[in-house]
Amino acid sequence: MSTKTQARHRLTILGSTGSIGVNTLDVVRQLGGREAFEIMALTGHGNIALLAEQARTFGARLAVTADESRYAALKDTLAGTGIAVAAGASGLDEAAHMDAGWVMAAIVGTAGLAPTLAAARRGADIGLANKECLVSAGELFIQAVRQGGGRLIPVDSEHSAIFQCLETDQRHAVERIVLTASGGPFRNHSLAQMADVTIETARSHPTWSMGLKISVGSASMFNKALEMIEAKHLFDVRPEQIEVIVHPQSIVHSMVGYSDGSVIAQLGCPDMRTAIGYALTYPSRPNLSVERLDFARIARLDFEAPDESRFPALRLARTAMTRGGVQGAVMNAAEETAFEAFAEARIGFLDMADIAEVVMDRMSSVKPAASIEDVFAADAEARRQAAEAISTIKKTA
Ligand SMILES: NC(=O)c1ccc[n+]([C@@H]2O[C@H](COP(=O)([O-])OP(=O)(O)OC[C@H]3O[C@@H](n4cnc5c(N)ncnc54)[C@H](OP(=O)(O)O)[C@@H]3O)[C@@H](O)[C@H]2O)c1
Repeated sequence: MSTKTQARHRLTILGSTGSIGVNTLDVVRQLGGREAFEIMALTGHGNIALLAEQARTFGARLAVTADESRYAALKDTLAGTGIAVAAGASGLDEAAHMDAGWVMAAIVGTAGLAPTLAAARRGADIGLANKECLVSAGELFIQAVRQGGGRLIPVDSEHSAIFQCLETDQRHAVERIVLTASGGPFRNHSLAQMADVTIETARSHPTWSMGLKISVGSASMFNKALEMIEAKHLFDVRPEQIEVIVHPQSIVHSMVGYSDGSVIAQLGCPDMRTAIGYALTYPSRPNLSVERLDFARIARLDFEAPDESRFPALRLARTAMTRGGVQGAVMNAAEETAFEAFAEARIGFLDMADIAEVVMDRMSSVKPAASIEDVFAADAEARRQAAEAISTIKKTA
């Protein structure tokens, strides 16, 4: 990207202190840093020291902590820098409304929905890492992007891969999309072994370095379940066109199968900076200092069918897609609540899927969402029901 002769690209990172946020800033640094980009807003939650350091290093106009109780700490840390400071939901909204042409949506969980939606509505291009926007708000989110007129560019490595493999004038010839899954740390565990795992073993992903929630989600394949629903909305395909295949090396990031039998795949080392860079500079490809694939060293690529009896989240995703309505929001909210209980050792690893299924069944007749408020209502009710289900569970771990 040429720098001094062009206006600097304005961007905002929602969730800059997380794994995706830190990688996004590394890509920004590699592509010219402050000379090439004007950082309008950076947001975090608990990590005030890192947020303040990022804001200073990249000269952000606004720094926001989503946690109101940390406002004073952030303000003190940035005193005298000229960087504006805000907090809470209104602070996130302010960040989303800053005049950035590109917004990275990298807040974890449903907390990312409102600010990302606000950025989409005002027409910003969205680099979408947060899955919950599409899982919970599906059509409403896509509608907001269309009305705003910005572009939606996936950052999740699988969806970025599919986005890259889709020949835009041959969409009618797409037969299937194939999401790859590493299988996580328990790929070869028996159900009995999985019942006993702890948060420490669940967070240790074999190939990717990621945040806590997504690492545990990879171990349970809930992350893949969310990705299936995300793919349905992003690429406007039917549930039966979405396949999942376990690929332990995480080199093939996903594939698209066409009506002539061809399958187009996107490959790369497991490094989120490639997908982030692609989303940031789309439709160009940036020069990035990331590891290159060495095929001779890799030697082989393995694939195997996922075992839905050990990873029921995949079945739940199909149920959610078939039922439609707010089932995605319900599945996601119940799973987030169950994940928190697992992280605090209040329930076992396998209980997470049981809780999500119970809540999805109980809420299967809830009407489709007509507005984002309906999505938030379904989300809140699912969390309430999940908490109730958790309180009745005798911990299996
Ligand atoms: N990591 C990956 O490789 C990867 C790949 C594909 C997709 N994704 C998706 O990208 C999103 C971010 O993942 P991540 O791994 O980067 O997560 P992460 O490391 O946990 O970071 C999450 C970010 O959200 C902030 N945050 C946490 N709770 C919040 C709240 N209640 N309100 C507002 N902000 C909050 C965190 O702030 P503090 O850190 O300051 O508390 C941090 O900036 C997730 O939806 C994930 O599924 C991640």
